Amino acid sequence: MTPLDGRVPESAAAGFSAGADDYERGRPSYPADAVGLLCRELAIGPGARVLDLAAGTGKLTRLLVPTGAEVVAVEPVAEMRERLRANVPSAMVLDGTAERLPLPDASVDAVTVAQAFHWFDAEAALREIAWVLRPGGGLGLIWNERDTREPWVAELSRLIRWDERGEHRVPYTTEVDWAARIDGLDVPFGPVRRHDTTYRQPMDPDTLVARVLSTSYIASRPTAERERLAVKIRELVADLGDTFDLPYETVVYWCRREV
Ligand SMILES: C[S@@+](CC[C@H](N)C(=O)[O-])C[C@H]1O[C@@H](n2cnc3c(N)ncnc32)[C@H](O)[C@@H]1O
Repeated sequence: MTPLDGRVPESAAAGFSAGADDYERGRPSYPADAVGLLCRELAIGPGARVLDLAAGTGKLTRLLVPTGAEVVAVEPVAEMRERLRANVPSAMVLDGTAERLPLPDASVDAVTVAQAFHWFDAEAALREIAWVLRPGGGLGLIWNERDTREPWVAELSRLIRWDERGEHRVPYTTEVDWAARIDGLDVPFGPVRRHDTTYRQPMDPDTLVARVLSTSYIASRPTAERERLAVKIRELVADLGDTFDLPYETVVYWCRREV
């Protein structure tokens, strides 16, 4: 990606602001074992201050609150922030980007990034995160990706990625080894560790359509194109019944800021 200089890419900004409602309705939460691991490894709990960066509508943010930690959430898209404030009223919600964080030096004990690090200028963001993290503090990244080992999910993914040139899509979990990527950068973080798990999102046809239409590069496409895609998705899941599970592979990475 090109350096962002503290800006959100236009495709992301347009997509996420157009799709905030669909996003909240259609996107998955995160598996308890993965969140538990992050909270243990990053010591997120009473007395700690955690920054959930690129918090969106607060899908991960809301899972951090019960730990007893003080939760700060940064999100650059106004429509997402509005949802975030309503969904997680106890969190302090701030406007900002990963490359330009609105927080003082060494002011948080941990940083989490859910389903968003692939949008960042990785090196600029890691330097900025290192700045706001206290020395020894932890960084955790998490992604859900549709589990295409199930044939209907593979077909769903094929439909969603109709633009095979990848023009509108920023690749992440399955295509990118973030541990190797981060370890290869000149940034003050210790070795990156990884944990793989799975998640099943309870689903129905309407929610699945909302899920797909909330994908950033689809949310910003013309209405007629979005409607055609919605019809194809309904056809695909017609035999699965009124409710079914959408399976995901979940990947978690974590590391520590060097002291
Ligand atoms: C797929 S959503 C993930 C939201 C939330 N973390 C979740 O788990 O549902 C990606 C989020 O990253 C935000 N984002 C994109 N580029 C960003 C950047 N450079 N700095 C901070 N946030 C960014 C978007 O506004 C969007 O809310």
